[in-house]
Amino acid sequence: MTVALCPGSFDPPTSGHVDVIRRCARLFDRVVVGVVINPSKRSFFTLEERVGFLRAALADVPQVVVRHHQGLLVDFARREGAQVLVKGLRAVSDFDSELQMAQMNQTVGGVETMFMPTSPAWSFLSSSLIREVASLGGSVAGLVPDRVAEAMKERFNER
Ligand code: PNS
Repeated sequence: MTVALCPGSFDPPTSGHVDVIRRCARLFDRVVVGVVINPSKRSFFTLEERVGFLRAALADVPQVVVRHHQGLLVDFARREGAQVLVKGLRAVSDFDSELQMAQMNQTVGGVETMFMPTSPAWSFLSSSLIREVASLGGSVAGLVPDRVAEAMKERFNER
């Protein structure tokens, strides 16, 4: 059985993330979407919210499961039985840091990484830009899963 791990902060998940995960699910028997907790970074959405957004957005893809992890990514991959990490690449600018992480994960854990080019329709998207646009009153509808857009609207209307 081929198992891929798609890791990230997903704060929040975007339509680009969901697209990469759906395409990944066509290539592997099982895809684990891993929400990775970074204890040194304050997140915008809680872990439970981020896991919930991803579960709702991917509920129709049976081979996808959403999990969370704190600690080394390669330990997470091993625990989930994932042979490969799959990361989306939006542009050349993503490549430097992703190559470094891929080489580190291969060295410390023997875990391979494969890169999937983001669909051109979503190559300008990032979670941080989504947070910025929404916080300044812009609409992010269509750029993120519906539940995320609703949650952002609620969050910023509350302020
Ligand atoms: O969505 P992000 O924030 O770009 O995801 C980055 C992530 C979570 C994949 C990266 O920070 C990570 O792998 N964190 C786990 C800690 C770890 O294993 N660090 C060494 C990786 S080389």
